[in-house]
Amino acid sequence: MQNIWQNIKKLKYPTLNDDLTCDVLIIGGGMSGILTAYYLNNSNLKVTLVEMNKIGQGTSGFTTGKINIIQGNTYNDLINNFGFNKAKKYLDSQLYGLSLIKENIVKNNIACNFEKTDSYVFTNDKSNVEKINKLKNFFDKTNYKTHIIKNLPINYQAIYGLKGEGYVFHPLKYLYGIANKIKGNIYENTKVINFIKEKNHYIVYTNKNKIKTKYLVFACNYPFFVFPGLMPLKLSTYKSYVWAAESLNQHFDAISIDNPNISIRYFENNLILGGFSHRTTTNINYKQNYLKLKNILKQNFNLKTTCIWSTTDVKTNDFLPFIGLISDNLYIVTGFNKWGMINSTLAGKIISNLILKKDNEYTELFQFHRALSKEKIKSLAYDSFYLTKRFISDKIKKNKDFYKECEVIKINGINYGVYTDENNQKHYAKNTCPHMGCTLIFNRQDKSWDCPCHASKFDIDGNILKGPSKNDIKKEN
Ligand code: FES
Repeated sequence: MQNIWQNIKKLKYPTLNDDLTCDVLIIGGGMSGILTAYYLNNSNLKVTLVEMNKIGQGTSGFTTGKINIIQGNTYNDLINNFGFNKAKKYLDSQLYGLSLIKENIVKNNIACNFEKTDSYVFTNDKSNVEKINKLKNFFDKTNYKTHIIKNLPINYQAIYGLKGEGYVFHPLKYLYGIANKIKGNIYENTKVINFIKEKNHYIVYTNKNKIKTKYLVFACNYPFFVFPGLMPLKLSTYKSYVWAAESLNQHFDAISIDNPNISIRYFENNLILGGFSHRTTTNINYKQNYLKLKNILKQNFNLKTTCIWSTTDVKTNDFLPFIGLISDNLYIVTGFNKWGMINSTLAGKIISNLILKKDNEYTELFQFHRALSKEKIKSLAYDSFYLTKRFISDKIKKNKDFYKECEVIKINGINYGVYTDENNQKHYAKNTCPHMGCTLIFNRQDKSWDCPCHASKFDIDGNILKGPSKNDIKKEN
């Protein structure tokens, strides 16, 4: 699926064709993986990074590229969950992450359209005004400068909000700029399908080869394993939609804390309008969601659209990302709660510091093994309920409402989605997700089969495009 960032020369890396041994294996060629490899450059460790598709073509290449400090309602959520001090520590971590991004851009001379902006968080819902006041109070106490606003600098309504400082950039140019500096080996189209622990090292199996490594880093958005860590119980997936449209350039970004939410930024004579974020287990009529967002674009801006895309974010249930050790020399980076631009660079720094046994004052904040909070327990129960409901009801209803663009047929008691292409050729894919068995939904925009439970994605022939599933849909004659 094309988006506004894809129109640049892509980096190319080979596919792994031999077994190899390394000190650190990083799984995932998005920002976190690339930054982790980069920060290990000056160690004596042999570093290898493998990506199942092309680097930067997962979540990192489908973001809106906002480097946001104010981050919607995040600080209120953190205060409710952990109290003021931890929310303040998170703010400090984000400022530190921002300083790392600036340092990387300057040091490596990366031309990535990095630009300072006015950054707004706003509401059009009177019941959210108090949340904005609480945010203002928090930022005042932490000496982070913000101002109350009663409108946005464009003709889009905002009854109340906050203005602070933000940054924007071209996410793929930044990622490629860093990737170009990596001294370790990068392999694309190399899919990891399993790993086992042996004495003091891991054996990692790809679709063709095996890799022996001492340190293993999962930096792949949503890790495929259930144990250790019980990942599907600790993470939930959210889908958002984006339209870009021709517009005069403006130098601000904004995000609403309402439901549905709206996000606004500009890039080279394009308005990038995102939003309508929802759990992937709900609101699963994607076409309708795209159209609702397009309506907002049409009614408020009346601009000619240039491209359209969607993205999937992973959220933790306590609003803090997981960045750290999960078990012996096994590290995880996930759950950026939509604030991935800063947190991915921060994650690269923290994981490399952990591997190199260096101190980092934010290691404890993001550690995987943290106590279950009140909010977390509530959210676990919510997710389990919705996933179970989706799993069972889909098996019963067969998702009739969502297969209008193609048909679902039963062969030997098994449901298959059948997509007929422009050459009248039929493509069959069993509509059960290999990850944990949820029923797949046809995504007309991307021409893919998407899983509502943890957001795996498959092409019309059942080939895996995005995990956590590590397998294609099993082919049967
Ligand atoms: Fe987990 Fe499909 S069941 S991604």
